[in-house]
Amino acid sequence: MSRLWDKGAPLDERVLRFTAGEDFSLDERLIAYDIRASIAHAEMLLEQGLLARADLEAIRGGLTALGQAHAQGQWHVELPDEDGHTALERRLTERIGPAGGRVHLGRSRNDQVLAALRLYLRDALEDLSAGAIAVAQALERLGAREQTTALPGYTHMQQAMPSSVPLWAGGFAAEIRDDAEALRHVHRRLGRNPLGSAAGYGTPGLPLDREATREKLGFASVQEPVTAVQLSRGKAEAELLFHVTILLQDVGRLAADVLLFCTEEFGFVRLPEAFTTGSSIMPQKRNPDLFELIRGRSATAQACLLEVLAICAKLPSGYQRDLQLLKFPLFRAIDLALETLGILPAALDALSFRTERIRLDPAIHAAEEANRLVVREGIPFREAYRRVAAKLKGSG
Ligand code: ARG
Repeated sequence: MSRLWDKGAPLDERVLRFTAGEDFSLDERLIAYDIRASIAHAEMLLEQGLLARADLEAIRGGLTALGQAHAQGQWHVELPDEDGHTALERRLTERIGPAGGRVHLGRSRNDQVLAALRLYLRDALEDLSAGAIAVAQALERLGAREQTTALPGYTHMQQAMPSSVPLWAGGFAAEIRDDAEALRHVHRRLGRNPLGSAAGYGTPGLPLDREATREKLGFASVQEPVTAVQLSRGKAEAELLFHVTILLQDVGRLAADVLLFCTEEFGFVRLPEAFTTGSSIMPQKRNPDLFELIRGRSATAQACLLEVLAICAKLPSGYQRDLQLLKFPLFRAIDLALETLGILPAALDALSFRTERIRLDPAIHAAEEANRLVVREGIPFREAYRRVAAKLKGSG
């Protein structure tokens, strides 16, 4: 099989394998989005008098059918295709004949991949924030279930102030909701239409309507000038992965608390057997591996973020094939985050507090006592603090 850019001399098989790398399989998830963008592009070509109606109908019908067949698993992007964009044009042309060769007028895979990625990331963002909200809701349910369960509040891992399960869970819920909100800010970077920038320098000699594809695909603006488009690749990715990392760090810190609360020494929390795993040697053990792996996941997200930043740093302007490498860490972090957010609500719903094991040091109310003294007697806080400290020392 040859590629659409092949012009005679065959590509060395080893070079194909190296340059396509994992790209052909990574592009699987972009197929539906590439089709949507390709149809918008073809419609715009018709409106500009650059494509005949019959050809547009054939392209639209062919791409739609290819999309449906792909969604049903009837075909996949193959290594010799190099990537998803090429696979689609090849299959389209096989299906509808020479009209398939008209769809690529005024575009390049360089703007095509950005359009497909932005459309995909728009959906991924919504899935991620919905996953985060579901975790926050599970925390709020936990707080409501354990409305009256007191907890010590810790600073320096020492009992500090009285707290409660709703207060503990509510803090995480609020931060995770905030992370979900922050994720949505990435829409700003994703809202720019890259189509029409083609390889990165526009389409001299061709009257394209970038506003028309903008409108059809729901982008907020046309990305201008054309040279900005390739410079922006990797930035929405980095911003998204930053927020994913922050989100997974919050989720990981929640897991760290749960793991502490599950220890024999704390014993605050009980996990049902179905949510713990066993040991191959110690018959008595039930392990909270689920929460440990949740805790560990933020490391991968952070590494993916660093990889994305490092790939783009110091690249000269214009398209560079390095940019293809962004997809692996991007998809990896998104998949891990969705998987983590997906399991967490069920785990939180399964968790209960063992009130009989939760003991608050009586001295935990010391700050409250000092505050009350100030309110009652109008003395400086420092004096009240000393009085309460002296009393505690005397009684201790
Ligand atoms: N797979 C490529 C990427 O993700 C698509 C663009 C390829 N462009 C090229 N000129 N080889 O960057």
